[in-house]
Amino acid sequence: MKFENKFENINDIGKGKKYMIFTYGCQMNEHDSEEIAWILENMGYSPAINKEESNLIIFNTCSVRENADLKVYGQLGALKALKREKPDLTIAVCGCMSQQESVRNFIMDKFKHVDIIFGTNNIHKLPQLINNHLQTGETVVDIVEESREIVESIDSHRKYDFKAFVNIMYGCNNFCTYCIVPYTRGREKSRKPESILKEIETLAEKGYKEITLLGQNVNSYGKNLKNPYTFAQLLRDINKIEGIERIRFMTSHPKDLSDELIYAMRDCDKVCKHLHLPVQSGSDKILKNMNRKYTKENYLELVKKIKTEIPDIALTTDIIVGFPGETEEDFEETLDLVKKVRYDSAYTFLYSKREGTIAAKQEEQVPEDIKHKRFQRLLDTLYPISYEINSSYIGQTVKVLVEDISKNDETVLSGRTDSSKLVHFKGNKELIGTFVDVKITNVKTFTLEGHIV
Ligand code: 5AD
Ligand code: SF4
Repeated sequence: MKFENKFENINDIGKGKKYMIFTYGCQMNEHDSEEIAWILENMGYSPAINKEESNLIIFNTCSVRENADLKVYGQLGALKALKREKPDLTIAVCGCMSQQESVRNFIMDKFKHVDIIFGTNNIHKLPQLINNHLQTGETVVDIVEESREIVESIDSHRKYDFKAFVNIMYGCNNFCTYCIVPYTRGREKSRKPESILKEIETLAEKGYKEITLLGQNVNSYGKNLKNPYTFAQLLRDINKIEGIERIRFMTSHPKDLSDELIYAMRDCDKVCKHLHLPVQSGSDKILKNMNRKYTKENYLELVKKIKTEIPDIALTTDIIVGFPGETEEDFEETLDLVKKVRYDSAYTFLYSKREGTIAAKQEEQVPEDIKHKRFQRLLDTLYPISYEINSSYIGQTVKVLVEDISKNDETVLSGRTDSSKLVHFKGNKELIGTFVDVKITNVKTFTLEGHIV
């Protein structure tokens, strides 16, 4: 794609220049960074190996928890010296932090060496924004509040050439009371099925084998489309695409997980038997205050239905500890739910107060020491279950898509099972991007180990 604009040489701005992107947060951000990389490489930029040789450094930020913000502030602060040495270095901040006015103002006030601030919804305008900054020397701020304009012509410079993220929708309508995402990513907007299918067909032609469909709540995909079309239909249509061998997706909100989707997962041989189903808490009172719109019982019933239809399903979840007003009894409900569901693994979070959300106004914040103690008890409940589930793999031969070589040992490869378990085994790096059969001989809490058979 060539970018239309009033400047003649905008597509050459990056010739001979180097860029680096630092990405924080979720897969959506990772994929946004792949799109940004593609745009920059179309402008002539090439990847840098360190900050010192970079002409452009972009921070694609996350705001879900406070720690993520703090890390970016630390990184920005550390760049002040480099910018002084190299005044023509361009520093840009994008992603969820940029979408919040108070954060933008803070960055502009405290980090005057930041040159460009853009949002999650206008990535396609980046060439123009870089050009504006380079022409004027001014700080350029460009934010679009509403959820992302669907610009179908942006491609991605994907990290892997055998597995790819594909956005199917942008934004979120759920307003869970702790969550900043609906404020940073705007309202839910689905891409048209035709363009999603076309993108995946093109990926398949290029040799991609696995795709991960991305959306804040993929289960409500299609609700705003003119012609009725559901996420379950989308899965069935993608399942027919030749060349694609694995289909993954995230994230699913339990309130919108339909029987139709469970049946599609059961019937489609390419859809991986793994479901990430964030529960957040096991207490009905907390779930209500989180605005999750289901009870513990609803969730357990849903899990039962899923396990009945797809007995070998791997279940993972997100859990927040220390939401305002969480009592010892509420927390014990969470532990009880974890024991009943028996998750393969879980992402666990200490509740983090996010300004602008409803929960931030709640007075009964849980003291930090109590939050930390509960967090440890939660891990002590989750880990033995993960280990037990992993132990059941010993002696089994599993199909693994080889993804990487180990950072510590070049002779060790890693890849994932259909159930999304990370597996380590000896092998040649030429196997990356192919499927191999691995016999599992040893397991840990988070990984499996074995040898190719
Ligand atoms: N504090 C802690 N965890 C949070 N999450 C979202 N907002 C917060 C917050 N304010 C967690 C939820 C969500 C995951 C992506 O991040 O568990 O599912
Ligand atoms: Fe945040 Fe809830 Fe939307 Fe997920 S579903 S992005 S937790 S508001």
